[in-house]
Amino acid sequence: MRLDQFIANCTELSRKEAKRAIGTGTVTIDGAVCKTANRKIPDDACITLDGELLALPGERYLMMNKPEGVISATTDSEHPTALDLLPAGLTRDLHIAGRLDLDTTGLLLLTTDGQWSHRVTSPRTDCPKTYRVTLGEPLTDTAEQALVTGVVLRNEERETRPATVRRVDDRVIELTISEGRYHQVKRMLAAVGNHVEALHRIRVGVIVLDPALSPGEYRPLTEQEIASIGTD
Ligand code: URA
Repeated sequence: MRLDQFIANCTELSRKEAKRAIGTGTVTIDGAVCKTANRKIPDDACITLDGELLALPGERYLMMNKPEGVISATTDSEHPTALDLLPAGLTRDLHIAGRLDLDTTGLLLLTTDGQWSHRVTSPRTDCPKTYRVTLGEPLTDTAEQALVTGVVLRNEERETRPATVRRVDDRVIELTISEGRYHQVKRMLAAVGNHVEALHRIRVGVIVLDPALSPGEYRPLTEQEIASIGTD
């Protein structure tokens, strides 16, 4: 899309007014002033007008590499939130599609689309989540089998759904689950007599944490990634 068209789509300005604003040097692309109205802009560019980040109307879908110590919430009085890591222009109406604990790192999805996030989190849609789990103790074969077939979590009666385990090394596994019970991974490992030392989410459905994202960084999801969370 051309820059003047993008600005007209994001604001109340007409195309002509957008061109004029660009000409006066009030528009930046990725931090640099741009005075060229017909400049083609990449999908992931950050565009500001008078210092305000612009976003196209419509739903927003982002992935973030959540760092440790950041809370999966929209507001919090004690800890920085995932939304605090985003530019103000992007956060309106955004919520988190599947929370992670304060000390869990990795793939966090954020969106304005409530139906989409419901499909990510609802056990009915069976959207698998994969975690790289660093264990306190090497995993025994018996414990692995129990995780795969289902375990009863403390203070619960119903077994967890079948899961998959991939051994990475002695004390690291990739565990894929398709539910999101409270502290589920930590409680599953506790139920088999082990404990979690570090937890990192690497995948939700087919959406894989982008290795280019350092902790705290984010990017918009691609059309394919958005569409991969199918309808129920
Ligand atoms: N399971 C947990 O125990 N913690 C998380 O953050 C996610 C899944």
